[in-house]
Amino acid sequence: MNENTSPVTIADIEKIAAEKIPGFAFDYYSSGADDEITLRENSNAFDRILLNYRVLVDVSSRDLSVTILGEKISMPVIIAPTAFHRLAHPDGEMAVARAASAEQTIMTLSTLSNSGLEEVARETNWPLWFQLYVFKDREVTRELVSKAETAGCKALVLTVDAPLLGRRIRDVRNRFNLPEGIVVKNLEPFMKEMLPRDQESGIAGYFARNLDPSLSWKDVEWLKSITRLPVIVKGIICREDAMLAVENGVDGIVVSNHGGRQLDTCSATVDALPGIAEAVSKKILVLMDGGVRRGTDVLKAVALGADAVLIGRPVIYGLGYDGEKGVRKVFEILRTELDLAMALCGCRSIGEIKRSLIVK
Ligand SMILES: Cc1cc2nc3c(=O)[nH]c(=O)nc-3n(C[C@H](O)[C@H](O)[C@H](O)COP(=O)(O)O)c2cc1C
Repeated sequence: MNENTSPVTIADIEKIAAEKIPGFAFDYYSSGADDEITLRENSNAFDRILLNYRVLVDVSSRDLSVTILGEKISMPVIIAPTAFHRLAHPDGEMAVARAASAEQTIMTLSTLSNSGLEEVARETNWPLWFQLYVFKDREVTRELVSKAETAGCKALVLTVDAPLLGRRIRDVRNRFNLPEGIVVKNLEPFMKEMLPRDQESGIAGYFARNLDPSLSWKDVEWLKSITRLPVIVKGIICREDAMLAVENGVDGIVVSNHGGRQLDTCSATVDALPGIAEAVSKKILVLMDGGVRRGTDVLKAVALGADAVLIGRPVIYGLGYDGEKGVRKVFEILRTELDLAMALCGCRSIGEIKRSLIVK
């Protein structure tokens, strides 16, 4: 792409970001586990899904907005929790929060953010959700939950697909670690030692020592008992777990395989989505993430039963491309594409996006 041309697609933004973000950090952001089969499948699966569409519907006015946990957002695209934004841009999570606010959508802040919960919360007028990893020391989790409540977060997103960290080969080869001066702000008070450099990948060592692989539905119950915030469980990929989520009284799930970064060769999320949506049968919120790069991907996910999607890497690439403006550009592209896809499918609102749009 010509340097002076402005990006037209998310893929264009990724290409520019690859040039601007330091190599080790771009590897960290873009990689998946092992052979990266699931990473590719997340996107390839969207490409395999074909659309039916209706014509001669008056689509002269279209509404992309949707209501999630009682809050209206401008389109069914939410910011996924991703770690370490300052490796992509010095403004890091603060810029992402400002973009979320301007684009009128929800941002989910990772436990592993470089900026602190409270300072990020001040940058957005739209709902901020907080993603939680549960540590062996439950007091750390309790403290994070209380901080999230005080900062005005509107939901907790409990990540359940990382009892151990997936093996990202590029990070192992690069001995990925945080450069001097970049901190994990929310954990600073608890970290006795900052991600040490003697492990094959420093962050993997940190997780292995501190995350709790014994996490179970009992802990979900415990989390619900210590917070008044809605709890969303992130990292569900099979029907059985989706049904357990409903039984255990959580407020929502994210159908997710962690962007192909955990168990390689597991199913693409959009392939898992219809069965899960059917099992949940609208009893709780169903979100999905993984491989969403086009407006048609958003439309397909909604048609297959998602209330909204989350995007991870596109936000980071936007941030690397041009900070807050770059993240806004990602949203502008997806909004334009979704709006066009809806018009061409004969849909005037998100509610009109139905399963019948998907070719069987
Ligand atoms: C660089 C990176 C860091 C991530 N960090 C977290 C995290 O801290 N917590 C979490 O729950 N998920 C994390 N994820 C997973 C994302 O929330 C999301 O599931 C995934 O990125 C969606 O796929 P996509 O990148 O194709 O949109 C991370 C993903 C990436 C790519």
